[in-house]
Amino acid sequence: MRGTCAVLLAAGDGKRMKSEKPKVLCEVLFRPMARWAADALKAAGVADLCAVCGAGAELVQATLPECEAVMQAQRLGTGHAVMQARAFLERHRGCDCAVLCGDAPFLDADTLSGALALHRSSHAAVTLITACLEDPTGYGRILRDGAGQVMGIVEQADTDAETAAIREVNSGAYWFRTDFLLEALSHLAPANAQGEYYLTDTVAWAVSQGFPAAGFPAASPDVVLGANDRAGLLRLNELARRRVLEKHLQNGVEIVVSDGVVVADDAVIGADTVLLPGTIIKPGCTVGRGCVIGPNTVLEQSSLGDGCVINASQIEFSSLGCRVKLGPFSHVRPGSCLKDGAKVGNFVEIKNSTVGEKTAVAHLTYVGDSDVGSRVNFGCGTVTVNYDGFHKYRTVIGDDVFIGCNANLIAPVKIGDGCLIAAGSTITDDVPADALAIARARQLNRPDWARQRRLRLSQKD
Ligand code: UD1
Ligand code: CA
Repeated sequence: MRGTCAVLLAAGDGKRMKSEKPKVLCEVLFRPMARWAADALKAAGVADLCAVCGAGAELVQATLPECEAVMQAQRLGTGHAVMQARAFLERHRGCDCAVLCGDAPFLDADTLSGALALHRSSHAAVTLITACLEDPTGYGRILRDGAGQVMGIVEQADTDAETAAIREVNSGAYWFRTDFLLEALSHLAPANAQGEYYLTDTVAWAVSQGFPAAGFPAASPDVVLGANDRAGLLRLNELARRRVLEKHLQNGVEIVVSDGVVVADDAVIGADTVLLPGTIIKPGCTVGRGCVIGPNTVLEQSSLGDGCVINASQIEFSSLGCRVKLGPFSHVRPGSCLKDGAKVGNFVEIKNSTVGEKTAVAHLTYVGDSDVGSRVNFGCGTVTVNYDGFHKYRTVIGDDVFIGCNANLIAPVKIGDGCLIAAGSTITDDVPADALAIARARQLNRPDWARQRRLRLSQKD
C-alpha cells in the first residue's frame, strides 16, 4: 500500500473577515478552521503534513505545529499554492497526497478515508471529493461523461448556462498520486477568466493524458462549507453547535432551552446531565452524569465528576470530584482540584488549590495557592494572603478546621487538623493541631462615650 501525505492550503488573509489574523485561524466552536482540517487528516491516519502559508505564517505555524510550512508570497491561485509545496511533494513521491482547503472545517476523517479507498481501488491519478448542492453557485462544477466518468471541473467564472446548472460541485479537497500531481502542476497555465493557476485544471489534464480521474460524492454536503466573512463564520458555528448538541441529546444529555448553549465538539458529557441556557463548554472538558450546568457558566479544560451543580460560575484548567456544588457567581481558576462533596458558594475565587472532601467555602472568600483538607469550614470573607508583592506562598490547612469569618491567613502558614481560627483573626504563624488561634485586638467598651460625642457635636452648631 502506498503511504499518505497532505498539503493544506492556508494562505488566505483575513481581509474579508476584517481580521488581523489569517482567515484559516478564525474559529469554529473555539477551534481554528485549519485545526479542524489538520485534525481530520490526523484522524484519517495522514501524518505527513505541509501547510501553504501566506500572511501571518508564524501564527498558522503555531496553530499547526505538526505541519511543515511553506510560503506563498503572492496568491496566484490554488494550483500556484500547491506548487510552493514542490519540495515536500518530491520527498513524498510514491505516496498518495491529499490537498485540502484550510477554511473548510467540516471535511471529516470518514470522507477522507472513503475517498482514499475509492482513489486506490479505481487506480485514479486524482480523486475529487464532491458534494451535491441545491445551489451550486460559487463552486467549481464537476463534469462527467455519459458513463459517469469525471472529465474535469469548470470554475464558476468560466461556466456557461449548461455547466452552471450542474449541481455536483468540487469540495476543494482531493487525493492525488504525488508523482502525477508533480507532473500536472508543471502543465498548469493561468488561461482562465481569473488569470489564476487553478489546481482544478489538473483533472482535465489527467483525462487528456489518459490518467483516470475519480469523483467521491461525500455523504453530507456540509463538507464544502467554508467561511469567507464573519457572517459565513457564524453560519459554520451555528451548524457545528447544532450538530454537537444533537449528539449530546442522543447520549441522554438534557438541554432545556438551547439558547447560548455552546459546546466544543470534543466535550464528553454523561447522561442525565442538564445544560441550562448560557452554558459554554470550551475544549478539553469532561462532565459526569447527572450534573446541572448553568445557567451562564463557562467550563474550559476541566473535568467534573457525577452529580455536580455549577450555577453561573466559571471553571478553568481544574478538576472537580463528584457532587461538588459551585456558585452562583464563583470562579475556579487554573490548577485547582475540588474533591467529592466540596461546596463552594457565592463570590468565591479558588486558584491553584486543593479543596478536600466536603469542605465548605460558602461565601465571599479567596483561596489561592492552598492545600485544604476535608470537612473544613471557611467563614464568610476568609482570605488566604498568598502574595507579598514579590512571591507567592502556600497555605496548608488540615482536616476538620473551622475558620471564623473575615480571617486572613498570611502565607506561608500551616493550620493543623481540628483547629479553630477565631473570626477576624490575621494569622501569621503556624497553628498546632486542635488549637484555638485568636489574633486580633481585645475589645474595649467605653460606657456612655458615644452619647457624649453626639452631645458635643450638636452643641457646636
Ligand atoms: C476552489 C476551487 C473550486 C471549489 C472551491 C471549494 C479552484 C480553482 N477552485 O474555489 O473548484 O469548488 O474551492 O471551496 O481551486 N488559496 C491559497 N492560495 C491561493 C489561492 C487560494 O492558499 O493562491 C487557498 C485559500 O486560502 C483557500 C483555498 O485555497 O483555503 C481555496 O481557495 P479559494 O480562493 O477560496 O478557491 P475558490 O475560488 O473558492
Ligand atoms: Ca473558497
